[in-house]
Amino acid sequence: MSIENNKTYSKRTASRMSKIRPSGLRRLFDLEHEIGKSSSNRILSFGLGNLNIPTMPEIIDQLKGALDDPISHRYSPNAGLLELREALVAKYKSEYHLDYEIEQIVVTSGCLEALIDTFLALIDPGDEVLIQDPTFGYYASQIILSGGKVKPIPLNEKFELEPEDVKEAITSKTKALVLNFPCNPTGSVMSREKIRAVVEIAADKGVIIISDEAYEAINYDGHKHTCAAEIDNENVLIISSFSKTYCMTGFRVGYVLGPPELLTPISLVHQYNTACANTPSQIAAKIALQSPASIREPMMKELTERRAKTIRAFTSVEGIELNYLPLGAFYIYPNVRGTGMDGQDFSDFVLKNCQLVVVPGREFGNSTKDHIRVSYGFLDQADIREAGSRMEACFNKK
Ligand SMILES: Cc1ncc(COP(=O)(O)O)c(C=O)c1O
Repeated sequence: MSIENNKTYSKRTASRMSKIRPSGLRRLFDLEHEIGKSSSNRILSFGLGNLNIPTMPEIIDQLKGALDDPISHRYSPNAGLLELREALVAKYKSEYHLDYEIEQIVVTSGCLEALIDTFLALIDPGDEVLIQDPTFGYYASQIILSGGKVKPIPLNEKFELEPEDVKEAITSKTKALVLNFPCNPTGSVMSREKIRAVVEIAADKGVIIISDEAYEAINYDGHKHTCAAEIDNENVLIISSFSKTYCMTGFRVGYVLGPPELLTPISLVHQYNTACANTPSQIAAKIALQSPASIREPMMKELTERRAKTIRAFTSVEGIELNYLPLGAFYIYPNVRGTGMDGQDFSDFVLKNCQLVVVPGREFGNSTKDHIRVSYGFLDQADIREAGSRMEACFNKK
């Protein structure tokens, strides 16, 4: 039997596995595969949260040379290569005026390892963890695997988190709040004032902020990212990575930064989990941080153009509405109710009739089932234009 068709839980597995489901995206990818076999049109996928832009050649060229050094063939220190942590200290100082010590950083296998290490180190059985709704699907499963309870807070109509809603959601059992701006799936950002209000409420109530800033460096139209630790670095854990900032999703290198009292236990989980992040990837990350900021310009130019074309392609269809400006990440999250379909029916419809993949909003929580997530990370501009033409033809016919 294939792994896909097997159950995730049986009498021989831990009971916590009964609460974990494979992502609904799997159904979409199976369907995509099925339709791809019978259609003459190439499938164009706005489904992936991945980037098809290669890692900057400046990083790859230097990395190739570094691989000759046997240091890159060995385990690194558990918390990460010293030079990489030094480069991270310098980054947070120069970009956000924050003073971290080397000991306040643990380098991990991407944000995903940083997140689960953090949840395992912080959560007791029954603790509640607040998450945004809609939000990145991994948080809920990782919180449940760590023994916690997930409590979603719906975002407002512009997909920001309202400080008042945070205040109302906090109970005596609330341990932490996971913030994610720029946000996956919406591409929305938050003003510094709103981040300040949320961070201050959390600190006041003794709730730890876990701020996933994976998209911190992908901002448009002059928007300036606020790092949540700029507001309060005593109560905020920053989680970020090189995946999106430097088109390095396959390298799997990220980190967690925070106050020593929280970092020490997280670092212990990390030690028993993976020992250390992949050493060649850490070297690539160090090279990235030591390179001039200008190496990111071609990537940002490309994403900026894709964003404009994606917004145009989807909002040209009658009934699709985007009533906020996505100023970060590489997603838009329009409401498709005006087409007479909810997000699920719409994504099935465009897959069958236009050979386009988009992800229904229900994959990201319960509050936005009329929305779809559209990622422009993995489609070139010509393909985005082609997708627009297919939708125009298809919806005119309907
Ligand atoms: C909000 C968010 N956090 C974390 C990740 C995973 O990041 P990494 O590749 O660093 O594990 C993603 C990937 O799509 C994401 O969207």
